[in-house]
Amino acid sequence: MLSNLAARDVETLIHPYTNLATFRETGPLVLERGHGVWVYDSDGRPYLEGMAGLWCTALGYSNEELVEAASEQMSRLPFTHLFSGRSHDPAIELAETLKELMPIPTSKVFFTSSGSEANDTQVKLTWYMNNALGRPRKKKIIARQRGYHGVTVATASMTGLPANHADWDLPLPGFLHTACPHHYRFAEAGETEGAFSQRLADELEALILAEDPETVAAFIAEPVMGAGGAIAPPAGYFAAIQAVLARYDVRFIADEVICGFGRLGTWFGSEALGMRPDTLSFAKAVTSGYMPLGGISIDEPLYRLMVSQSAKLGTFGHGTTYSGHPVACAVALKTIAILKRDRIVEGVAQKAPQFQARLSALADHPIVGEARGIGLIGGVEIVADKRSKRQYEPKAGVAARCVAFAQAEGLIVRFLAGDRVAVCPPLVISREEIDTLFDRLTRALDRTEAWIATEGLQAAPL
Ligand SMILES: Cc1ncc(COP(=O)(O)O)c(C=O)c1O
Repeated sequence: MLSNLAARDVETLIHPYTNLATFRETGPLVLERGHGVWVYDSDGRPYLEGMAGLWCTALGYSNEELVEAASEQMSRLPFTHLFSGRSHDPAIELAETLKELMPIPTSKVFFTSSGSEANDTQVKLTWYMNNALGRPRKKKIIARQRGYHGVTVATASMTGLPANHADWDLPLPGFLHTACPHHYRFAEAGETEGAFSQRLADELEALILAEDPETVAAFIAEPVMGAGGAIAPPAGYFAAIQAVLARYDVRFIADEVICGFGRLGTWFGSEALGMRPDTLSFAKAVTSGYMPLGGISIDEPLYRLMVSQSAKLGTFGHGTTYSGHPVACAVALKTIAILKRDRIVEGVAQKAPQFQARLSALADHPIVGEARGIGLIGGVEIVADKRSKRQYEPKAGVAARCVAFAQAEGLIVRFLAGDRVAVCPPLVISREEIDTLFDRLTRALDRTEAWIATEGLQAAPL
């Protein structure tokens, strides 16, 4: 029997990324409050939030300083926009702060309200830029299978996941996908990480040549793939890819929506992985998820083009009502101030070895094929047979079952396609809480193993 609140939910709400058929039976997990890395459901049960919400609550829950920053801005000036030259001090100060933090040359910052809008803006600006440069054929965008960049028409086209394409009439023409850099799953027998990376770079080059380099405008990649499986790249991957992009003048967009603001123990994932993008998108942890805010960096040559386009066309014809919302900007400024003052990013680098050691140890579990990550992010892949890497039938929902067992153990983690379980806790997690997280995840895996045996599940054919 669903509780009153749950029953009202089922009758009124559409939930993103939810099986709306099974949801009618299971109902929602209604969360009521949070503190630190803990959230509490409507019955008062605590859960360790092992996903930082949706990869975003870097500073954990109920951070009073963020609440005060929002409240102060709400009282002073809850809304004004940035259209037609209107401005406000939180947006100006945040843009200045971000310019200094960016790991790449940045002339200006453009704000959005989400990661999808940030990446959508990247696509539009790439097209706009190439029109201004007099190369109207150079418009195709290459993303990666299993990459995740959002849900707007253009960003879902870049996303490389079946659920974002099937029956949505996507991807749009001009959006291409190259191979997923998951060494465990896609390397050939005996292929080293370096050799695999080089093969993927060669495949990218072959794709660009087959399409005609004069038509390929940009390549987009997350430093660590998130929704596609929490997949850290193999050694040498970005160095090999960047060499190809440079050869054909293909703009490199780093999607830092998950990795930005400390996740890998550096301010941006690009720094941890030796990426040298032309531009980057950010969102999520920039406000610790407390307010919707995203944005992109714009280099000086692009900015100059944008200025001359405005002179020609009369305006920069892009932006949304909430681009640079003052309350979101005020919360972002406070988030960054806390990250700096409390040396949170350095703290992530210090805690990462413990987190990664506990994560890697899960690879010894009988149903785990791979357990790997970087910084405070990790992916665990459940397999039916470790040697052959065969999996269970997707419809058996083994990873979903593991996540449900984790929830019963008081841990929130997330299942992803390919029977993967993602872990991505708030950056402020303590060493003791890291142990609690992995103790609970281990128990969830034990319960999943027992359930698989009871159900008599067998490996799917290769
Ligand atoms: C890497 C990446 N890019 C873009 C997005 C889209 O962001 P949003 O959901 O805020 O639109 C996400 C969301 O999870 C993401 O993980």
